[in-house]
Amino acid sequence: MTQSLAAVVLCAGKGTRMKSERAKVLHPILGRPLAWYPITSAFELGAQQVVAVVGHQADDVKQALTQGFPGQPLQYALQATQRGTGDAVSAARGALTGFNGAVLILYGDVPLLTVGTLQRLLAAYNPAKGPLAMISCRLADPTGYGRVMRGEKQRVEGIVEHKDATPEQRQITEVNAGIYVVESKFLWGALERLTPQNAQGELYLTDIVAQASKVGEVAVVEAPAEETAGVNDRAELAERAEVIRARINLRHLRAGVTLTHPASTFIDAGVEIGPETTIGPNVSIHGECEIGAHVIIDQGAVLTHTTVGDGAHVKPYSVLEEAVVGPRCHVGPFARLRPGTVLEEDVHVGNFVETKKARLRKGTKAGHLAYLGDADIGPGCNIGAGTITCNYDGVNKHETVLGSGVFVGSDTQLVAPVRVGDGAFIGAGSTITEDVPAGALSMSRTPQTIKEGWAERRRKVLAGLKQG
Ligand code: UD1
Ligand code: CA
Repeated sequence: MTQSLAAVVLCAGKGTRMKSERAKVLHPILGRPLAWYPITSAFELGAQQVVAVVGHQADDVKQALTQGFPGQPLQYALQATQRGTGDAVSAARGALTGFNGAVLILYGDVPLLTVGTLQRLLAAYNPAKGPLAMISCRLADPTGYGRVMRGEKQRVEGIVEHKDATPEQRQITEVNAGIYVVESKFLWGALERLTPQNAQGELYLTDIVAQASKVGEVAVVEAPAEETAGVNDRAELAERAEVIRARINLRHLRAGVTLTHPASTFIDAGVEIGPETTIGPNVSIHGECEIGAHVIIDQGAVLTHTTVGDGAHVKPYSVLEEAVVGPRCHVGPFARLRPGTVLEEDVHVGNFVETKKARLRKGTKAGHLAYLGDADIGPGCNIGAGTITCNYDGVNKHETVLGSGVFVGSDTQLVAPVRVGDGAFIGAGSTITEDVPAGALSMSRTPQTIKEGWAERRRKVLAGLKQG
């Protein structure tokens, strides 16, 4: 196809059957709003202009979609009142002023159409023969859909909506998928000629098919029913999400990622994973995660907006959010990395360790039971079990800074703001409120006392009291 391509994606409808406060096209599937999927296909097909027609909750829809397509030329057109699919496409006319070529029309609530099927549609479109090509599919139960009307020699003559169809027409099982490619000049002219003389009193986009059949041949590409299915309620949303989840998993499997149990693996659309990485059962990877090569993410881990470097190992049931895990780090089991955590290379964070806004520099280890918040630690530190940075004074947060090779004994509280110099030692059980110079030993616990025979004397005293 040599003609230039633009796309119009209809996103204005309310989606009443979703029973939601949120516009239908904003309901997420694997980390992206529903309408992100068809819009992505339009860009992948090489559309120079993509116009999303918005109406219901227009501002929210625009904001979410703009976020989903940073730096891409996504445009918006407003359809203030929803007078039908034909009216919706007309709303995009202004945004496409000066455009001459093929206009691909997609629905914002039909997320499963593959680029391959759309390429077949574009290949079937031949403006020399007719100004419109469309996608149909065969359904065992066509209820609710527009039916494809064929006449002599199977020539397509139009679409009749279910609500307008006669009982005989309702027997037709070839339905309109609602996806078309149309020559722009013909499209704008045909839309002007639409009238709302139909059962729903709407301007039906489907009526342009009959118009196209009068000036040429309507090309039809049949697509698998799975691809053309839309989302009308939350049950259908869940069904479509399941297909997208399986597709994403398959893409990673084919790219060299092992998923030990794909049926329980949830990987969002925006996640990148390097080769030779293994993802265990019941793992969820949300948002914009980047996972390196030769990584192991074990059972039950949940990662959100997190980067994991090559060769790292995230052990079972760890929860990581907006964190950076460097190469060859070990995390968990049962670790919690909160936003702002940066683990440089070869860092170990063990079970029941919580970090927040903390940088653990190269080779630092915090093996067990610690809270490290607002901290800059290492390289090469050893953080004992039960260490806590007391970062909050009730009003403000303060920072704890540990130099290189610091040894923090178990059960230490570091009361921020506080700094510990390179190579210093903190005795176990200390509450550190003053800065510790490099190379020093600091302890703050009371000196240990020993009273020989004390236990026996006490036992006797207590026994005497009881007799008396
Ligand atoms: C439409 C087709 C039908 C086809 C079916 C396939 C028409 C008249 N009918 O019916 O032949 O079989 O899709 O799924 O086109 N929208 C707007 N503004 C409006 C109306 C709709 O933006 O004024 C958007 C909706 O948000 C939705 C899409 O257009 O994304 C389809 O609208 P919908 O009302 O669901 O059309 P159907 O009745 O399903
Ligand atoms: Ca619909």
